[in-house]
Parts: sequence; C-alpha cells; structure tokens
Amino acid sequence: MADRTCLAVVLAAGEGTRMRSSLPKVMHQIGSETLLRHVLRAVSQAGAQATAVVVGPDHAAVAAEATKVSPDAAIFQQTQRLGTAHAVLAAREAIARGFDDVLVLFGDTPLVQPQTLTRLRAALADGAAVAVASFTPADPSGYGRLIVEDGQLVDIREDKDASETERAIRICNGGLMAIDGKHLLGLLERIDNRNAKNEYYLTNVVGLARQSGLRAVAVEVDEDDVRGINTKAQLAEVEAVLQQRLRRNAFEAGVTMIAPETVFLSADTTFGNDVTVEPYVVFGPGVSVASGAVIHAFSHLSEASVGEGASIGPYARLRPGAQIGKQARVGNFVEVKQAVMEDGAKANHLAYIGDGRVGEGANIGAGTIFCNYDGASKQRTDVGKGAFIGSNSALVAPVTIGDGAYVGSGSVITENVPANALALGRIRQVIKEGWASRLRDLKAAARKKGASG
Ligand code: UD1
Ligand code: CA
Repeated sequence: MADRTCLAVVLAAGEGTRMRSSLPKVMHQIGSETLLRHVLRAVSQAGAQATAVVVGPDHAAVAAEATKVSPDAAIFQQTQRLGTAHAVLAAREAIARGFDDVLVLFGDTPLVQPQTLTRLRAALADGAAVAVASFTPADPSGYGRLIVEDGQLVDIREDKDASETERAIRICNGGLMAIDGKHLLGLLERIDNRNAKNEYYLTNVVGLARQSGLRAVAVEVDEDDVRGINTKAQLAEVEAVLQQRLRRNAFEAGVTMIAPETVFLSADTTFGNDVTVEPYVVFGPGVSVASGAVIHAFSHLSEASVGEGASIGPYARLRPGAQIGKQARVGNFVEVKQAVMEDGAKANHLAYIGDGRVGEGANIGAGTIFCNYDGASKQRTDVGKGAFIGSNSALVAPVTIGDGAYVGSGSVITENVPANALALGRIRQVIKEGWASRLRDLKAAARKKGASG
C-alpha cells in the first residue's frame, strides 16, 4: 500500500443542533482534544498524503483547528448542507489532483482507528472501487442498510428510503468509505437527490459503481470505529470508550493503577516505566510523567511535567507550566503553576508556588505562599538551591531568596534575602504577664455591676 497515494476527505459541515451548544460539533472534546483532532490524527497515522476538511459556513474555528492540527490540510466550505455526496464534492479540487485512494470520514466519529482505515485501503488495493465500513448494531434504525446479493455488496439503502424487508437488514453502513480516486468524481457527478430526504447521498456510489461494472465491498469494522456523536450523552459514551483505550495504553507503558476506572487521561498523556497512579486522578492535556514517579490520590494535573521518582499529592494540583524535578515532592493541598521545582525540592503541605523557581533540594514549609499577583501583574519568586522557607511565609514577588538561606516561620518577605542568610520578616512577639487574668477580672466586675444595678 506504500506505493498508493491517499487523500482523506473529512466531512465536518454539520451544525450539531442536538448538542445544544454554540460550539460547532467537531470542536467538542474527548480526552482533552477536539473530535476533529482525533479524526485527523487517525488519518495521518493511516498514511494519507493529503487531507481535505469540509466545513460549514461560519465555521472559522473548525478551519483554524484543522489547520492547527494538519497545517497542510486544504479547507473547503460547503455553503449549503445538501447531503454527504454534495459535501464530498465541495472538496472537488483536492480530489481532482488525482489520488489512488480517497478516504471519506465524518468529523463527528472520533474513535476511528488508523488500522481500520488501512483495512479499507487494502480492499481498494485488492481491486475494489468502493470499500464500505460495515457493522451490525443492536438497533439498526437510522442507519443505511447494506444490500448484499450473492455475497456481493450491490447498494446501500438509507433508513428513510428502505422498504420493510430492507429495513429488517441488520448489517449497516458505518459511514466511513474508501473510494478509488480515478472513479470518484465521475460517480459523485451522477448522484441525484431523488430520495426521501432530497439529499445527495454518498451511499449511492455503491449502486452506481456496480452499474459501471466496478466492484464494491463491505469491510466489517468494530462498532466503536464508526460511533458517531450527535448528543452530549453520546459524547460521554465515546469519552468512556476512549478512556478505556487510554488506560490500556497506560498499562502497556508500565503504569500501575489499582482503580483505573477512576483515573482520567488525556489523549496526549505520557508515562515512563514504573509510574504509579493512585485512584481518582485527573490528567488534563499536556502532562508527562517520568519513570518511578507516584501520583497520589485525588490529584489534578494539566500542562505539567513530573520528573523521575517524584511524588505528587495526595490532593495536589499541578497547573500549566509546572515542572517538577527528579525526586521532588509536592504534597497535599499544594498548587504549583508556571514554576520549576528543581530536583529534590519539597513542598509537602498547603502551599502555593506560582511564577517562579524552587532550587534544588530547597524546602518550602507548610502554608507558604508565593504572592505572585499584585492585582495588576504577575511577578516572579526565585528560591535558591538548598534554601529553607519556614512555615506560613509569604514571599512577595518579585523577590529572590539566595542559595542556602533561611526564612523564619511566618515571615512576610518583601526584599531579597542573600545566600546563606537568615531572614525574619515577622512582627516581634510581645509578652504582657497577667494580661488575660486582668481582662477576666474586669469582665466579672462589669457583670456584677449589671446584675445589682
Ligand atoms: C450517514 C449515511 C448512513 C450511515 C450513517 C452512519 C449517507 C447518505 N448516509 O447517515 O448510510 O449509516 O451515516 O452514521 O451518507 N455532512 C456534511 N454535509 C452535509 C451532510 C452531512 O458535512 O451536507 C456530514 C455531517 O456533519 C456528518 C456526516 O456528514 O458528520 C454524516 O451526515 P449525517 O447527516 O449525519 O448522515 P446520516 O443520516 O447519519
Ligand atoms: Ca449521523
């Protein structure tokens, strides 16, 4: 197949009315990535040399996402939604460039796997002009039915156009197709809209191909590969399938999870060997976890990296730009944002580390806050190697704590601390002997006076 050229046409012009959302349907996410991105990734993994994305009017966001994911993708606009064949024809210019194989996919069918696309292409390499992904759903209503005669696929009948006998057919069109690029435009041009929906049906390519003496075949695929999304409930169902796949990949990468069903991953989460992920952890986009690290229960990570052997949580939050070094520790109720914790640095309890650096081996005491925001702009805090920040300190940025310096507990640090110095930034304690007893005596006297008066 390596010598066959391939164009993928992704149909994404649907409004997605039933999602009840201002977002175009293919811009919804599963595994923290848009539906469109999932489809485009599968297409490129299946070895397509070119991609065309058909978008609806006012779908600038869809076009932008397509270009972001596949910079070379050609974007075509379907101004009127007149059916799947009409949508494919919107990409005429790309098809006319001449490809051996043309894959047609739906942007709202994100679980399609590259190996499934490869199987469809293989059917073309074997001499078929049209290869249709077929499946047998528990409830076939709504799907196009595959009309098979003498073991040959001869036509596809849309649900609304089907006779009662045809409606009893269980084997359905998954929507995905591979079509011989030499014949596609010729076939599309012969499709009309004389049917129940007055739409130009792509499915008519099967019957037309047969009439021209070309061969059409059905390729049975896993139902998940063709699982489309029309509603928020289906979005959640597809998410669940994706999470199963991602957890399986995580196990294959060597992750230990005792309650995988409570761990939520993003499509781009990466793990080294021997990582442990405890129950109830959420990985947002852009997280990498290196070998030997432990992510304790109830932690939430996004756009962050965790170094070898580091320990995160329980109840830790790593926000975008958190870079945790080797053997570093981020304990319970610690939040790290846009900050580097170098190797062996520790913040074990209740701290906010935002916009800065914690040097190698430095220790951040419980309750310490990097006061990074003055209401107008963000400033940096830099804690040197081996420094020790006493509990409940406020480091008011911009500020630098030198290597090996100590900050006394409860300090408010507003000025730089030199290396190896001690900084005490707190109000000195005052003792007034007997003060509390005198207060109580005064109160008792006042009560007596009130009672007798
Ligand atoms: C389609 C198939 C049906 C199959 C089913 C599988 C046709 C005629 N029917 O039906 O045989 O069983 O998928 O799910 O192809 N689109 C556009 N522009 C249009 C029309 C559609 O971009 O003018 C896009 C939609 O956004 C959607 C996809 O094409 O992603 C499929 O269209 P839809 O109307 O949902 O087709 P179905 O009726 O589900
Ligand atoms: Ca559909």
